[in-house]
Amino acid sequence: MAGTAHDTKIVDQFTRWAQPFADLAVHSDADGMARALAAAAITPDMAVLDVACGPGIVACAAAPLARHITGIDLTPAMIDQAHERQRNAGLDNITWQVGDATHLPFEDGRFDVVLTRYSFHHIPDPGAALREMTRVCRPGGRVVVIDATPTAETQAAYDRMETLRDPSHASALTLDQLRALGPMSGLIEQKIDFYRLEVLLDTLADAENMTALTDLFDTDIASGEDRIGVAARHTADGIHFVFPVSIVAWDRP
Ligand SMILES: C[S@@+](CC[C@H](N)C(=O)[O-])C[C@H]1O[C@@H](n2cnc3c(N)ncnc32)[C@H](O)[C@@H]1O
Repeated sequence: MAGTAHDTKIVDQFTRWAQPFADLAVHSDADGMARALAAAAITPDMAVLDVACGPGIVACAAAPLARHITGIDLTPAMIDQAHERQRNAGLDNITWQVGDATHLPFEDGRFDVVLTRYSFHHIPDPGAALREMTRVCRPGGRVVVIDATPTAETQAAYDRMETLRDPSHASALTLDQLRALGPMSGLIEQKIDFYRLEVLLDTLADAENMTALTDLFDTDIASGEDRIGVAARHTADGIHFVFPVSIVAWDRP
């Protein structure tokens, strides 16, 4: 399925990280999930698409609210994790598929809600992904993007840190950049929400990148200026930092 060199990076990274990502409790954070599902405004008659669904955390949380959920992801190992999560949860209204967010294999207007979480920063052309998400959403339906959004001032330093932590990182959009993509796809903005996701660096990076990452964070913490924009700090169990996450919900007219 992987086509471009970047797709290969994605599949390599998320094949290695499929199990740890699936198991990390912070990815099921209740406050963030409640906010994401509220923005999606799912009702029991709806068909929902979770784009770049990873191990199906959002899809499985949304399933009890919907008629049917489809999850699609570029990384087969993530789809394997999603099947396992669905089996463990005893959910029977989800189907999974391997595929690319920028070339969705679905007909126009098939879904009532199309959402994606923590994926746009991995996609070199997030506008193309949003156009595809809009195309497969029915007129009157909802499109939701949830992702970390640095400020314009911290974006470059944030991207440097994230690329070191995860080589499949492309670039994180600022909230303004993300909001601006909606009208370009013909979407009308309905709702914006935010949450902060507190994480421990040690749980999120490969061992071989840890020295360089620790140096980067040590310098940032010592500066006292939070140039990376993630409120990094030392604690007894290592370096903690906070992803600033935005939720943007649009309707397709
Ligand atoms: C950080 S994980 C997020 C997983 C899930 N959305 C969640 O929030 O738990 C990013 C996921 O995006 C997927 N991905 C990245 N680029 C993609 C693309 N072009 N098409 C489909 N999936 C993609 C990766 O395979 C990975 O599973």
